[in-house]
Amino acid sequence: EKGGYDYFMLKEIAEQPKAVADTLLGRVDGSGSLTLDEVRIPANVLREVDKVVIVACGTAFHAGLIAKYAIEHWTRVPCEVELASEFRYRDPILDQQTLVVAISQSGETMDTLMALRHAREQGAKVLAICNTNGSTIPRESDAVLYTHAGPEVAVASTKAFLTQLVACYLVALYLGQVRGTKYADEIRAVVRDLGSISGAVERVLETMEPVRELARSLAEKNTVLFLGRHVGYPVALEGALKLKELAYMHAEGFAAGELKHGPIALIEDDLPVVVVVPSPRGRSVLHDKIVSNIQEIRARGARTIVVAEEGDDAVVPYADHLIRVPVTPTLLQPLVATVPLQVFACELATARGNEVDQPRNLAKSVTVE
Ligand code: M6R
Repeated sequence: EKGGYDYFMLKEIAEQPKAVADTLLGRVDGSGSLTLDEVRIPANVLREVDKVVIVACGTAFHAGLIAKYAIEHWTRVPCEVELASEFRYRDPILDQQTLVVAISQSGETMDTLMALRHAREQGAKVLAICNTNGSTIPRESDAVLYTHAGPEVAVASTKAFLTQLVACYLVALYLGQVRGTKYADEIRAVVRDLGSISGAVERVLETMEPVRELARSLAEKNTVLFLGRHVGYPVALEGALKLKELAYMHAEGFAAGELKHGPIALIEDDLPVVVVVPSPRGRSVLHDKIVSNIQEIRARGARTIVVAEEGDDAVVPYADHLIRVPVTPTLLQPLVATVPLQVFACELATARGNEVDQPRNLAKSVTVE
């Protein structure tokens, strides 16, 4: 049942190109428009939405953090992202014009369920992004967009995350399409670009041997830090979460711009630091800033592990290890940049003799608050 792989996690990592393609199937057409009729929230209701609030836990929360960049950019509607476990305890401001998006692989996460119940009680519309047909979260939501990752068995979420991202982009682009924004042309172009993402993920998977080798060489380390900016910041958080849950290592993700506000004090000789570099195209200011961050940490002894787009040569002199990812539109980069971090965590866990599919103290779905 593991399809020849040693672990479900490896199988699920390998299934990502298909999972991504399946989640797009029937929802995107070649001309650059989206058909999301299955989201049975009428267009006029979506046009009136004045705030989007995303609630989720763990890896799904990281998908939500990335969605915020996409939603606010393409729709110009303010978007908040909140840990489901915090949400209802702070008396959030919600009304009929709020669209709440609850993201959950299992559809059974109690924190997320309680958050969406609270949101509906306040009159908000709830859209679930979920991987499990007929589970509680979609049943209790106003609408659902299913991710088509197929069953995810390993405790560490991988293919579900990538498909959650795809679903989030679809929601962002659809909202933009329905509402009409100045980004109409960009939206059409990105919808077309989504079609090539599955192949891009495939290409990443084909080049993972050096990442595995690197991971094995770090098995004795105690700490790994992750830095990112813009959508690379949640990718850094996700890379760190994977490493915590699988390798039981101290792993932390930071926004690279925060380095000088504290975390840079952690840098010491030979400390591995993974840096997710945004595309040099698009938001090039951010790219240049993160290149300076890499120089800063390297000057203080860090061992830099740089995840950067193909053709981005500016990072080469400062990368002790360079992991290349295919060129994608800026906002879509997490779909390719996350994959090496999954492989990295899985291999490190194996090298440390840990049980990859069933990490200690964790359950696949957390059905208690
Ligand atoms: O089933 P859900 O997506 O609601 O689960 C949320 C988190 O419990 C889950 O993503 C968890 O963080 C994973 N073990 C991360 O790999």
